[in-house]
Amino acid sequence: MTNARLSLDGREVTLPVVVGTEAEHGIDISNLRSETGAITLDLGYGNTGACKSAITYIDGEKGILRYCGYPIEQLAEHTQFTEVAYLLINGDLPNRQQYAEFRDKLTYHSLIHEDMKKFYEGYPPGAHPMAILSSMIASMSTYYPNGGADAEDLNIIRVLAKAKTIAAYSYKKSVGQPFIYPRNDLPYCGNFLHMMFAFPTEPYIVPKVAENALNKLLILHADHEQNCSTSTVRLVGSSQANLFASLSAGICALWGPLHGGANQAVIEMLEMIQADGCNYKKYVDLAKDKNSNFRLMGFGHRVYKNFDPRATILKKATDDVLNQMGVKDPLLDIAKSLEEVALNDGYFVERKLYPNVDFYSGIIYRAIGIPTNMFTVMFALGRLPGWIAHWKEQRQDSGRIGRPRQIYVGPKERSLVPLEKR
Ligand code: SDX
Repeated sequence: MTNARLSLDGREVTLPVVVGTEAEHGIDISNLRSETGAITLDLGYGNTGACKSAITYIDGEKGILRYCGYPIEQLAEHTQFTEVAYLLINGDLPNRQQYAEFRDKLTYHSLIHEDMKKFYEGYPPGAHPMAILSSMIASMSTYYPNGGADAEDLNIIRVLAKAKTIAAYSYKKSVGQPFIYPRNDLPYCGNFLHMMFAFPTEPYIVPKVAENALNKLLILHADHEQNCSTSTVRLVGSSQANLFASLSAGICALWGPLHGGANQAVIEMLEMIQADGCNYKKYVDLAKDKNSNFRLMGFGHRVYKNFDPRATILKKATDDVLNQMGVKDPLLDIAKSLEEVALNDGYFVERKLYPNVDFYSGIIYRAIGIPTNMFTVMFALGRLPGWIAHWKEQRQDSGRIGRPRQIYVGPKERSLVPLEKR
C-alpha cells in the first residue's frame, strides 16, 4: 500500500503513504489543504503523526518499548542511565572510551554557577520543586547564552549534569538544610542521592539498593516518543528557541496530573484510600462514575492498550527493592488490590485501562526516601535525555516551525457597537 485515495465533495485526491521501520503506515497529508481546501481534525492528536523519528519505538498493542532498537527490558537490566542518555542523544550505545569521556564531562559540569544558588532564596519554603526546576533550567540560558553547534553539545552536557544538582538543591531548600555539593567520585545516581541525603556534619554512604533502583527508574522514564511533554519540547524547539527554554517548557507540560504529575497523584490517591479505611473498592466504583470527576491515577494510557512494559518491570522492582530494604509499605498492598479489582472489572477491561509507568514508581521513590512532591522531578530527570534527543532530531530534520491549523466555530463577522452604546 503506497497511496491512499480520499474522495471529498466529488473530488478524488491521492495521498502518499509513509511506511516506517516496523511497518507502521502514515498517510502523508502535507498537501491535503492545497489540493482539497480541507484540513483534518484530530482532537488530542490520537491519530496524527507529528514527525518521523528514529529514537523510540512503541507498540501499544504488544507492549513493546525500544530505545534506538534496544528493548527496554534489556536496557533496564543491564545498563546505566548515563549509557542510555548517551544512546538516546547519539543514536548508539557508547563504547568504553566514549562512555568514560561522557561520564567525565557529566561529572565536570555537575556544579551550578554559585550565583544561581541565590535564586533559591527567592522561593517560598513550600515552593513545588517542578516550578523551581523549570525556572532554573530556563535561567541556565542567561548563563550559557551562546548558540552554535559546539555550544549546543556543551549545553546538552551542562543541562544533563546540572539538572540533578538543581533538583537536589530544591529538596534541600524545602527541608531547610544546607546544599550538598556533588562529588566527582560518584556516578550520576549515587551523586544525586548523595546531594539529596548527605549532611555536612557526617559522612553519608549511598545505599547500593537505592542507587540501583533509581538507575532503573530513570532508564524506564528516559523516553517515550511523542508524549505530551516531548511534543511540547519539539514544538517549542521548532521556533528555534534555545535548548534550555525548550526543556523548561517540557518540564511544565510534564507537571500535569494527566501526564508526569500522575506519579505524585497516585501516592496521594493511595494515601486518601488508606485514610478512608483502605476501602479501595469504593474508589474503583468512583472511577467508573462519570459524575465523580475521579480517575484511578496511574491507570490508562493513550498508546498502551494491553500493558505498559515499564509498569510490568516496576511492579517486580517494587517488591525487590522493598524486600531488600526491609520496607513494608501499606500503600503497596492497596495498589496491588486496586490493580486486581480493576483488571477484573468490565469498565476497565472494556476501555483497556491498565497500570501505567506511574502506578508503582512512587512506591519505590518513597522507599528510597524521596518525598512525594519530588516524584515528578524524578520523572523529569529521567526524561531529560529523551527530550534532548527529540529537540536535536527536530532541529536536524524538518527545521519547519510547528503550526497546527484549526476549525473555527466562533461567531460570524459582526459590527462593533461602541462602548458608550453598549
Ligand atoms: C504518562 O503519552 C505517554 O507516553 C505518557 C507517558 C510517558 O512516558 O510520557 O507514558 C507518561 O503520562 C502516563 C499516564 C499518566 N496519567 C495518569 O495515570 C492519569 C490517569 N489516566 C488518564 O487520565 C488517562 O488514561 C490518560 C490521560 C493516561 C489517557 O487518556 P486518553 O487516552 O485521552 O483516554 P480518555 O481520557 O479519552 O479515556 C478513555 C476512556 C474514558 O471513558 P469513556 O468516556 O470512553 O466512557 O477511559 C476512561 C475515560 O473516562 N479513563 C479512565 C481512566 N483513564 C481513562 N477512567 C478511570 N480512571 C482512569 N485512569
